Amino acid sequence: VATDTHFAQHLSTQRVPAGKREAILADPGFGNYFTDHTAIIDFSADTSNVGNWHDARVEPYGPIALDPAAGVLHYGQEIFEGMKAYRHDDGSIWTFRADANAARLNRSAIRLALPQLPEELFLESLRQLVSVDQDWVPTRDGDSLYLRPFMIATEAFLGVRPAREVSFRVIASPAGNYFGGEVKPVDIWVSRTYARAGRGGTGAAKAGGNYASSLVAQMEAEAHGCKQVLFLDQFNHNAVEELGGMNVFFVFRDGSMVTPALSGTILEGITRASVIQLGRDRGLHVTERTITLDEWRDGIASGEITEVFACGTAAVITPIGQLRDGDELIGAAGAPAGEVTMSIRSQLLGIQAGLLEDTHGWLTRL
Ligand code: COI
Repeated sequence: VATDTHFAQHLSTQRVPAGKREAILADPGFGNYFTDHTAIIDFSADTSNVGNWHDARVEPYGPIALDPAAGVLHYGQEIFEGMKAYRHDDGSIWTFRADANAARLNRSAIRLALPQLPEELFLESLRQLVSVDQDWVPTRDGDSLYLRPFMIATEAFLGVRPAREVSFRVIASPAGNYFGGEVKPVDIWVSRTYARAGRGGTGAAKAGGNYASSLVAQMEAEAHGCKQVLFLDQFNHNAVEELGGMNVFFVFRDGSMVTPALSGTILEGITRASVIQLGRDRGLHVTERTITLDEWRDGIASGEITEVFACGTAAVITPIGQLRDGDELIGAAGAPAGEVTMSIRSQLLGIQAGLLEDTHGWLTRL
């Protein structure tokens, strides 16, 4: 089936004046500000769920008119992606592993009974948005334009079934450090009360509902002075899964690196996959396996585990400081960021910024 990748352009005279934009780009933080436009593609299906994508367009950024009965508002039929556009020194703009995001969006779509989006439409929607909003792509080292593709059920119908009217959209938001300020180790709270995902659930899908269910655990973490929450495996209460919005890695003294295996309950992070590859490239023995809190505690105590870090598109690579499990404290407070952590972080950022060779062909020009 030929895919029509023509986008109509309904452009705004700048929603945000240039002076204001410059002020925002000087200190964007994460997720606070949005660019002038949004890319949209709608989907309609008939009663046998045969449908097509249509009306691809770029519009001024602004509120969405939704029927109050839209499926997304009632049954949470929503998925999203997180990716970034990076400006290189010659002014060109690139994105990282967009094919992997397109593929993951479609895996999430299958799980949430949403329609799949052809990869070329996904990529073209990013290109269209970034080309009209290119002045929003930061120039400062380490900063980027966070891209948030998402898909929502827009059909007005209260019966519980997959919506036949769906909208795919992309918004963009200039991004600095997710945790604010300079990169420094973050403390983590172990959730003993709440689960993020269960077997057969939506844990591996990038669905809004997973993040909604993490919020109360995240509040608990913050009440204990921590920046993120750690979720455990619901069948093995000792096994580490992931943080509220990022995957986790352990660096061992013997030159190995471990991250929890994808079990269907863990988000299949694209940064996670990239860190595995970069670790192997530098000769580290990287394994995906079960790692328990006992191993974390004992490994830190014996010096066998030398570093722990979190990773994600938003978080990039963020060192983990102390782990708090109730009253028990694992690791030293205020310890500096690990060497391997910061080295992989700068390698990843270097590839994304076009300063290091892209040996894996991860970058796509937008
Ligand atoms: C991302 O890393 O892109 C995510 O979607 C996670 C969230 C913390 C923003």
